[in-house]
Amino acid sequence: MVYKAENGGIFLEWIEVSGGRPLNGVLKVQGSKNAALPILAGSLLHKGRTILHHCPRIQDVDSMVAILRDLGCEVTWEADSLTIDAGNLCSFYVPHQWGEKMRSSVILLGSLLGRLGKANLPYPGGCTIGERPIDIHLAALGEMGVRITSKEHRFEAAAEELTGKRLRLRFPSVGATENVILAAVLAKGRTILENGAREPEIEELLRFLKGKGARIEEKEGVYVIDGVEELSDSEFCLVSDRIVAGTYLFAAAATRGAICLEDAPVRHMTAVLDALRRMGAVIRIGGGTILMDGRKAGMPIPYLKTEPYPGFPTDLQSPLLAALAVAEGESCVEETIFEARFHVVRHLNRMGADIRVDGNRASLKGVGKIHGTYVKAEELRGGAALLVAALAAEGTTLLEEPGYIRRGYEDIFADFRRLGASIRHHQYGG
Ligand code: UD1
Repeated sequence: MVYKAENGGIFLEWIEVSGGRPLNGVLKVQGSKNAALPILAGSLLHKGRTILHHCPRIQDVDSMVAILRDLGCEVTWEADSLTIDAGNLCSFYVPHQWGEKMRSSVILLGSLLGRLGKANLPYPGGCTIGERPIDIHLAALGEMGVRITSKEHRFEAAAEELTGKRLRLRFPSVGATENVILAAVLAKGRTILENGAREPEIEELLRFLKGKGARIEEKEGVYVIDGVEELSDSEFCLVSDRIVAGTYLFAAAATRGAICLEDAPVRHMTAVLDALRRMGAVIRIGGGTILMDGRKAGMPIPYLKTEPYPGFPTDLQSPLLAALAVAEGESCVEETIFEARFHVVRHLNRMGADIRVDGNRASLKGVGKIHGTYVKAEELRGGAALLVAALAAEGTTLLEEPGYIRRGYEDIFADFRRLGASIRHHQYGG
């Protein structure tokens, strides 16, 4: 079977979703991508072994594993556990292709500086959702004695001696906070970082580093890190992924289904669960389990904005839009973190949604029902939102470039099939 894509080309890979069925059933939530990446970077700080359990087997983790191997680490998988031996780390050069392939490769900056005093990395470059600059990372590390030189699309960072300082970020960037913490763990003296981000994944990074012997305390976005001489071997179990859990809940709400999520990071999902309740979902929580009855989750949300944690996460803004598109009534969603995160609206409107974007605000007229058509994933969370919309839509949706979605979701298509969805995978020639 061959389909013509919008631009006249031929689809290479696509999924076919027959929508309109409520999702029902039980799922376990995978390990967190955004916790795994800085923790994998953090494993470089130690001249020995780190074992990570509940590690998601997704493309971004595979990319990070490939980089660690390039740098001289031994990395092995056993089921969902990763063992990293960074005893023979020998390179501080991250090859060019990773800047494009995985923007979060910049998270290696702090730990390479901490371990080797040098890092040579590709600039991450912009992407569909925004420019993704790293000025906050570089300014903060500069204050710790790091010199930066840029050449073409790369930069080299070097420090004779990393020294603890009192620093303040102009904005609580997640990546910059992680880079400063990673650089400070083995630095000389005390680093005090003010206005740091407080995302749960940073709390996880702290828990991981403390388990290796780092000395770090945090209170309301102020991090105090006392440099230590060395770290030790450790074993660590990653928290579940709050964005994956949220995506599954919005999919169940959009299809008016009822699902149970096991191993859910409930404590980190307050803003998301509040939004679902505002839509009419009935939610019960017990331990790490979320039981959601979304049969009446068709109410609009008059106004909601994305914010740094503990606010509503930008990474769930697109799946939320998909669910609100099939609500009954008017909603407004404001994006305050990334400047270009509404690309998915074009595709949702082609499916019959009624969404108008004005700057960083999307105004939605919930239309109750949308219909299947051809759509294309352009980035991870927008792609996941199109899948949510396709599950709720009447008829068949052909979703091109599902590879984007796999970057962050271990087994999303099989998971939704387990909940009763009809999803078929196609590949050109396959
Ligand atoms: C991380 C998450 C991403 C999430 C985001 C916000 C990982 C691997 N990724 O991304 O899923 O959407 O947090 O919660 O954890 N900015 C600057 N200069 C900088 C750094 C950031 O202007 O030096 C801007 C960015 O362009 C963006 C905003 O600050 O508009 C937030 O970025 P940041 O918090 O750094 O996000 P990431 O760490 O890239």
